[in-house]
Amino acid sequence: MIGSDTVVRVRDLRMTYGTVVVLDGVDFDIRKGEVVTLLGPNGAGKTTTIEILEGFRGRSAGEIEVLGADPAKGNEDWRARTGVVLQSWRDHPRWTPRRLLNHLGRYYEPYSTPDRPRPRNVDELIEMVGLEEKADQKIVTLSGGQRRRLDVAIGIIGRPELLFLDEPTAGFDPQARREFHDLVHRLSDFEDTTILLTTHDLDEAERLADRILILAGGRIVADGSADELARQVAGEAQVKWSCKGEHFVHSTPDATGYVRNLFLQHGELIQDLEVRRASLEDTYITMVQQQETGGRDKVIVPFDRNNRADAEEAVTP
Ligand SMILES: Nc1ncnc2c1ncn2[C@@H]1O[C@H](COP(=O)(O)OP(=O)(O)OP(=O)(O)O)[C@@H](O)[C@H]1O
Ligand SMILES: [Mg+2]
Repeated sequence: MIGSDTVVRVRDLRMTYGTVVVLDGVDFDIRKGEVVTLLGPNGAGKTTTIEILEGFRGRSAGEIEVLGADPAKGNEDWRARTGVVLQSWRDHPRWTPRRLLNHLGRYYEPYSTPDRPRPRNVDELIEMVGLEEKADQKIVTLSGGQRRRLDVAIGIIGRPELLFLDEPTAGFDPQARREFHDLVHRLSDFEDTTILLTTHDLDEAERLADRILILAGGRIVADGSADELARQVAGEAQVKWSCKGEHFVHSTPDATGYVRNLFLQHGELIQDLEVRRASLEDTYITMVQQQETGGRDKVIVPFDRNNRADAEEAVTP
């Protein structure tokens, strides 16, 4: 049995499609209430990992516990405690969002508890995801971003304890993205929802995640907060300033100390001060490149797309 605040425990997870090794020993934990972002290049195995944790996909090997159960054997009670937003799915095009949400909500009724009344009220839910104007139109008429909002609504209608979001904001306009970030904070802060999400938007990852995992070459190559990862990769920050019309740039591992000295020496002559730490994008690119050139055997090889109707771009070694 895992510790009471560990919601997800993954040990030596392996996944092979035919002869293609996609996951080659993945290890991580997620604690209750954490928001964790899973990053990685196209084809790294993020969707594969998430679908295994959701119990939608079998695994080749490894030990997994999600909400106290092996997802491969999760029963209906277990499933009702999780929420899922898949990377892509198409269903019920002629229904309206309101009808679909009412229909799906009924499934959660037997699992309602005083702590977590289930399902969520559909009117409130429609407002939460900003779908008021489209609530009574056929789903087939929704735009890509509106469809994604509906997907998010479907994921949270059962007030899940653990929510999986696979690229939830793909196709969102900037305002929808901002509203979604507020929604994630609300779910995390007020409902203590544990969240695992994938995204290719590193700004979003930094904004949302308590912890970031980077999956590359079939393994987790980084695990930590955005700051922790940045410190691992680039110990140095860049300090820029100008003094008497001249511009200066200096790299230093101790930006605060350096700036303090600068002011002690030059006081009010210092202008245009800027301190730039490595962004998550710098860190991410460095870590993925390190993995690619790190002398490890390539584990991801091009996938024969004839075997999979919706095959995604394979990573070319
Ligand atoms: N059912 C399948 N059969 C065979 N190969 C598959 C199957 N599903 C995924 N793959 C392959 O496994 C690898 C990982 O795919 P996955 O969808 O997990 O990647 P991802 O990290 O989610 O990528 P993206 O960022 O593009 O969504 C890819 O090379 C993909 O082609
Ligand atoms: Mg994916």
